[in-house]
Amino acid sequence: MESKNLLYPVNSLITREQREQRMNQRPLLIWFTGLSGSGKSTLAVQLEYALFQQGFNVFFLDGDALRTGLNSDLGFSEEHRSENIRRAGEVCRVMLDSGLIVLTAFISPFRTDRERVKHIIGQDRYFEVYVDTPLEICEQRDVKGLYTKARRAELKNFTGVDSPYEVPLCPDAVIRTTEKTVEQATADLVKAILPRIRL
Ligand code: ADX
Repeated sequence: MESKNLLYPVNSLITREQREQRMNQRPLLIWFTGLSGSGKSTLAVQLEYALFQQGFNVFFLDGDALRTGLNSDLGFSEEHRSENIRRAGEVCRVMLDSGLIVLTAFISPFRTDRERVKHIIGQDRYFEVYVDTPLEICEQRDVKGLYTKARRAELKNFTGVDSPYEVPLCPDAVIRTTEKTVEQATADLVKAILPRIRL
């Protein structure tokens, strides 16, 4: 970290407020967290579309997509997951600074990693959505066939099977996907988020 003293980041001449005025919105990171197969991406994509239809500038950053590019060197050990989430947080910071509303879908199983993201981007720009789908249901759905592989020990460190998921203690929203349709959940989220993104 010695090189820190040798770095001189250049400040833009455009202020945060000017960007907000131009984009006609306040940037927000909408961070979905939950088990694999809980429905994070499904909800994030629907919410992104709903906000887009209302005129907002939005972008969905998918966990699996990031892992095929920027984070292709990372696996699923605790250490690598932490690094995965840290980098995701840094990417989100840049996107928020550019004025966008960003939606993400990472399992992000560890509280300390989610807290760090909040710290990286600033608490006032963070909105956490816990997608609360019971493990049994995720396993039944097993859309990607990964739970079956994990139960057969063909896949190690699988969240919910042999790697922990730490339930959020104070999320901004909880979606129980067994009790609501995707449409209802999306409508609820739009309602909760609008006051945070309107100028
Ligand atoms: S995180 O834990 O680092 O936040 P991330 O959301 O990026 O995980 O990636 C999760 C996706 O990777 C899952 O939806 C699944 O498709 C895939 N995957 C592959 N191996 C594992 C594993 N051991 N545990 C969880 N997900 C895995």
